[in-house]
Amino acid sequence: MAWQHIRIPRFGGPEVLELAEQPTIPDPGGGEVRIKVLAAGTGFTDTFIRRGRYPDFKGPLPFTLGYDLVGVVEATGPGVPVELAGQLVADLCIVGGYAQYAIRPVRFLVPVPDGVDAAEAVCIPLAYLTAFQMLTRYRRLPRGATILVVGASGTVGTALLDLARHLGLSAIGTCSASNVATVEGFGATAIDYRAGDFVAAVRELTAGREGGAGVDAAFDAIGGAHFARTFACLAPGGLLVGYGAQTMAVGSAGLASAALALARLKLWDMLSSFFGGRRTDFYNITARRTARPEDFKADMAVLFGLLRERAIHPVVIDRLPLVAAREVHIRIDRGGLGGKIVLLPWPEV
Ligand SMILES: NC(=O)c1ccc[n+]([C@@H]2O[C@H](COP(=O)([O-])OP(=O)(O)OC[C@H]3O[C@@H](n4cnc5c(N)ncnc54)[C@H](OP(=O)(O)O)[C@@H]3O)[C@@H](O)[C@H]2O)c1
Repeated sequence: MAWQHIRIPRFGGPEVLELAEQPTIPDPGGGEVRIKVLAAGTGFTDTFIRRGRYPDFKGPLPFTLGYDLVGVVEATGPGVPVELAGQLVADLCIVGGYAQYAIRPVRFLVPVPDGVDAAEAVCIPLAYLTAFQMLTRYRRLPRGATILVVGASGTVGTALLDLARHLGLSAIGTCSASNVATVEGFGATAIDYRAGDFVAAVRELTAGREGGAGVDAAFDAIGGAHFARTFACLAPGGLLVGYGAQTMAVGSAGLASAALALARLKLWDMLSSFFGGRRTDFYNITARRTARPEDFKADMAVLFGLLRERAIHPVVIDRLPLVAAREVHIRIDRGGLGGKIVLLPWPEV
């Protein structure tokens, strides 16, 4: 039976995405399964890979885009328990998600509980896991602590706000004017970063706090020189976690400037005692999964539990067929989406 996927034959703009058809359904090899993909996440990181600027994946070309997927195990390869067949699973696959079928190693697959919506579930592996690990794996923030989310309307940003609300944290988020309602919808205070200096706005909002103005933790998706501005929003003893390099991803800054920003983060952390005990770190989901696979699986299980209980609410703004992938990338490149677009590779029945 023929099946479809979205392939890119070269790096570039959204025009490189093409719908391709394969004549036969592939069989899994040793340690692998074949997944019938029910939902494929799309997001900024896919566009980063599409441009050929993503440091952790450079091909070979052609390949199928798609950083995360949720689907049903249809066939198991040698060495994989046959009982896995029929199980709904999630995978952080980096590439390969925009497809009707994916052959994936079984190693990092995580079971998805029954009764959850596949499109909401696919918000978990990249966006919610990143947010959850940044919020819980560096330090235990007490209820009532204040966080700053830079890029709060993005897929990771909204996940941070959603989880912050669940954990009883108070959140401030920067976003464009058009996304203020999305940010406020999570009970956060929104700052339109285009309308003025967000550092001054954060300091004003937190003035008079016991221990000094500023936030207890800040999460920055923008990177580059932006880290210094977010660092300036921390209260004494506060923590900055950087996790994005958006300026490098879109080509407005080079690899050298991204590397310099990371070096600066490290330096500030080393000199913490000169900076009022403020600390910094950089989060990388794939490096962390490789280093701590058990944390990855445990945290995914917690998040799927929260999703099943409706304790968290991923923002899915659109559910579209594979053929819409190019249009989706045009929309992501334009910015201002305020949530995740999910591709549903099979026609809904
Ligand atoms: N390190 C990791 O492990 C890891 C994991 C996941 C994602 N990431 C990275 O994290 C970044 C965010 O990912 P995402 O999926 O959340 O992207 P996204 O959905 O595209 O969101 C990014 C947000 O950034 C906002 N933004 C753009 N320029 C800004 C600025 N100067 N100040 C404040 N906000 C600004 C946009 O908000 P407005 O539209 O409101 O302006 C947009 O909503 C990407 O670079 C991605 O590659 C890294």
